[in-house]
Amino acid sequence: MTADLAGPHWWREAVVYQVYVRSFADSDGDGVGDLPGITSRLPYLRELGVDALWITPFYTSPQHDHGYDVADYRDVDPLFGTLADADALLARAHELGLRVIVDLVPNHTSDEHVWFRAALASPPGSPERARYLFRDGRGPGGDEPPNNWHSVFGGPAWTRVPDGQWYLHLFDTTQPDLDWRNPEVGDMFEGVLRFWLDRGADGFRIDVAHGLYKEASLRDQERSTDAPPPPPNVIPADDPDGPPRSMVERVVRDEPMWEQPETHEVYRRWRRVLDEYADERGDRMAVAEAWTQTPASMAEFVRADELHQAFNFAWLTTPWSARGFAEVVNSSIAALASAHASPPTWVLSNHDVVRHPTRYGGGPIGLARARAATLVMLALPGSAYLYQGEELGLEQVDVPPEARQDPSWFRTGEPGRDGCRVPLPWSGEAPPYGFGPQAGQPWIPQPVDWAGLTVEAQETDDGSTLAFYRRALAARRAAVLGADETCVAKADGDLLVVRRADLTVLLNAGRQPVALPAGEVVISSAPVDDVLPPDTAVWLR
Ligand code: GLC
Ligand code: MG
Repeated sequence: MTADLAGPHWWREAVVYQVYVRSFADSDGDGVGDLPGITSRLPYLRELGVDALWITPFYTSPQHDHGYDVADYRDVDPLFGTLADADALLARAHELGLRVIVDLVPNHTSDEHVWFRAALASPPGSPERARYLFRDGRGPGGDEPPNNWHSVFGGPAWTRVPDGQWYLHLFDTTQPDLDWRNPEVGDMFEGVLRFWLDRGADGFRIDVAHGLYKEASLRDQERSTDAPPPPPNVIPADDPDGPPRSMVERVVRDEPMWEQPETHEVYRRWRRVLDEYADERGDRMAVAEAWTQTPASMAEFVRADELHQAFNFAWLTTPWSARGFAEVVNSSIAALASAHASPPTWVLSNHDVVRHPTRYGGGPIGLARARAATLVMLALPGSAYLYQGEELGLEQVDVPPEARQDPSWFRTGEPGRDGCRVPLPWSGEAPPYGFGPQAGQPWIPQPVDWAGLTVEAQETDDGSTLAFYRRALAARRAAVLGADETCVAKADGDLLVVRRADLTVLLNAGRQPVALPAGEVVISSAPVDDVLPPDTAVWLR
């Protein structure tokens, strides 16, 4: 294996593996994953065949939203290790030819950040309060919140402080939103970017990148009912018979809290900083987590002078159908091309959504479909993001109520996102399945029937999902597809047909087998002979 993978613009076609730090590998036996745990498992990622890893936030944090509530952007939480552990991780990854993307959370801080503590200790109208969105309430005595916005995690987006003012939090009460119209905020984050770039980070995943600026008036959101809007980052299981969700999402909503034009100035500034750091290791990059309303508005985040990538959530939210998949492939590519933007990205799972085998119906069919959709994804132009555990075929776990920890569970009574965050099974017959040296269950309990899903069990089984991912990633690398090649998808009834360079990718989304056209089978998601069975994909050449 070579140490360098893809030249200066490595991110354009990279396969990036998302590490959810709390649940990847635990080194010290406290039942929570940590940085030395990740470092110890880097050879596994190298062998899997990915190009980079993105690590969810490991900064100092009271962990109310499991790290997405940052109290100190320039330090490591003792739960996860030390700055020296972060340096060691970066160094070892680079030695193995892996790039490291860290998670940046600029929309809000923790309520334990020094800025927010100072804001609470200072009077209304003070410069300390002006770093956040403090406002007087409405109605008699200012007892009503300043506007009608809901938190993404349920309930009002405002919390009142003892002197009567309210502060905005689009997420949990412990995650106050910053006021990006205050220049101090932008300067602070430029410092944070440079801090991690100087330590060797190869890129940033930008949390809630469509947030940051709010419409200056903080006006009410127009809504027909008072019911909270569906949280954009909690996707329910797909309705296979409904219309493609990418079409549904194009009903443009009134959202004065998201996608404000000023946000793009922030990304232009960050792009200049990132460009300064390009060196023999190649570009430093950034990928936006932006739940945008349309592929066209997604494309705005990745114009040539802005961020390098944006997660293409339209692909993730498209239900199982040849028509839906073809539509989203073509419309994503077209939207990016017409904005002269970067190549697309593709993602099926992350730490906020129901795992894709479960979305596709669960059980053997769900897994077959998940493998098939993954194989199509790996043939598409641009970059692909994998979420830890999908290479093991893990399903969403029904975490018992007493073990749930997601703040959205406490605010809404809905199961939340814990079920995709269960610690990985590495080896052995019983929890914690080699996740760490402690005995018994880790921070979220693992199912007792996972022995057959461990890395150890799958490594020696040629038909396992892990073996399939390794083959698929190797095939992708060997195919040397360029990010700029033309790629066209169409639905021929229930058959998805994607053509890219000399490769034809077929996915049978119907219920009947389809005769396989002539050609060499490069790889398939399940065994094929002269027919392509339902829920199966193949690369032909
Ligand atoms: C993003 C993260 C999610 C977090 C939220 C608030 O959507 O992916 O996990 O809860 O932002 O930071
Ligand atoms: Mg630990």
